[in-house]
Amino acid sequence: MNPTEGKNKKIRLLFVCLGNICRSPAAEGIMMGLVEKNDLQDLIEVDSAGTSGWHEGELPDERMRIHGEKRGYDFSSSARKLTREDLSTFDYILVMDENNYRTVRSMASNSEEIGKIHLMTDYLVQFRKLHNHIPDPYYGDATGFELVLDLLEDACEGLLLAIKKEHILI
Ligand code: 4NP
Repeated sequence: MNPTEGKNKKIRLLFVCLGNICRSPAAEGIMMGLVEKNDLQDLIEVDSAGTSGWHEGELPDERMRIHGEKRGYDFSSSARKLTREDLSTFDYILVMDENNYRTVRSMASNSEEIGKIHLMTDYLVQFRKLHNHIPDPYYGDATGFELVLDLLEDACEGLLLAIKKEHILI
């Protein structure tokens, strides 16, 4: 849908990982920052969810919040589980890895919903072809969290560019 075509419908982005406490809330916060920097808040809406409900209602993982703060982000969303309804109401569903992809794909009801599911690494620019998933940092150390942020900052830039082109915002 092209919002410039008259319906005034927002472009809705949903970032999805397993727990919704590390990768997807970071993607949500980074993307929100870019949307605001580009003054596109009236056109683009951002949210995140987990394929599991293990951490429902929790703030993002403290390690991810601390690493994010060092780069000027405030990751403060509340974890929630992905629902079937999300596949119909969101326009882009950005998954972090193949496991997320398979789970979300299994919840899709039709080809339109399947077409909304994209791997976040497909939008990498600087790191293009070097990574085919955003690695789960949960059981790792600080370097894993920094890598996730490096990859997400790159992919969010690429995603915003792709959306601008697709919806003729540039
Ligand atoms: P996320 O990371 O999917 O990036 O939020 C994880 C968070 C929690 C768990 C696994 C991954 N967990 O096993 O609880």
